[in-house]
Amino acid sequence: MNTHLMLVLWAVNLLIGGVAAWGALGHETVGYVQWYQFTVLAFTHFVFSYVAQQFLAPKALSFVQSSLGSQYSESLGPAATWADDVRSEAAYSWSAGFHFVDAEDSPPSSCSVSESRDCGSGQCILTAIANYTTRVVKTSLSATQRQEALKFIDHFLGDIGQPLHVEAEEVGGNDISAKCSGSSTNLHAAWDTGMLTKNVDANHGGTATAYASYLVGQIQTGSFKSLTSSWLSCTSTTEPTKRSDASIESDIRSLVSASEDASAAITPLECPLVWAQEANAFDCSTVFPFTSGADACTGTYYSKAIPVIDLQLAKQGYRLAAWLNVLFDGATNLS
Ligand SMILES: *[C@@H]1O[C@H](CO)[C@@H](O)[C@H](O)[C@H]1NC(C)=O
Ligand SMILES: [Zn+2]
Repeated sequence: MNTHLMLVLWAVNLLIGGVAAWGALGHETVGYVQWYQFTVLAFTHFVFSYVAQQFLAPKALSFVQSSLGSQYSESLGPAATWADDVRSEAAYSWSAGFHFVDAEDSPPSSCSVSESRDCGSGQCILTAIANYTTRVVKTSLSATQRQEALKFIDHFLGDIGQPLHVEAEEVGGNDISAKCSGSSTNLHAAWDTGMLTKNVDANHGGTATAYASYLVGQIQTGSFKSLTSSWLSCTSTTEPTKRSDASIESDIRSLVSASEDASAAITPLECPLVWAQEANAFDCSTVFPFTSGADACTGTYYSKAIPVIDLQLAKQGYRLAAWLNVLFDGATNLS
């Protein structure tokens, strides 16, 4: 796991240093947000959280606004990259392992995520989501602690939708060399940002907000509209689940009642596991059928990847809104 982390950080640093043009793009698109860090990863997280912000119910919205405050423009988008910004700081090094689950499967022939096999240490994105979901509504915690919990949730619900954050193979794709429109990169980075940025430049005016608004439109009246109710149920189409009636509501109910017992261990929830399994299934269908060194940002590979990226960002954004709505308003408020 340490190797995984080091390589991820190394890759991120290379990206940040290497693509000034993308940084400028991020700056322009969210110009109203002064704090914005010009990293390419921030771009992805901003998009997904911007989608979520549009679907918040009244109490969830009110908590988000007051907790995040003007520092984050009272919005999930600007707060979404905080968890990546601090993970490389010594004071937060304990959080680095929370950004992924290293699924020990064998893509592209066999894909799966197993709590006991892949998160046996209890230190992965599955347990982190449960932990911070409990903490964000815990009134005995300080405002700062609850804001931190919100920022972690805001970030991890995005990470868990990225197929290579739920995969151990080749260090989550970091060890697979790739190109993006001729520039050297690796497969993980191509999925984090390379293909997305190319698509946003080509088809969405090059701005994060235009792309995020497009995804919101697809959810409200477009091609995703018919899928949204299935996004909120936590039943897997690819792997058996523990409960046939799992849902965001049932997950949150069991979590909040368990957390009243202060000594209760953090048990991973049903929904995050299903989300991880869904993202991981794309490792077999779309991500790992890849020839090392090839250009991911062109041809069939690219054209098959873009719909997956659109889907995962829209879906996880919508789920983040539902998650916070159930926590604060008692129901998803979405239908
Ligand atoms: C839960 O979150 C707190 C606060 O960030 C952290 O100290 C603790 O290690 C977390 N526990 C688990 C099991 O993730
Ligand atoms: Zn992350």
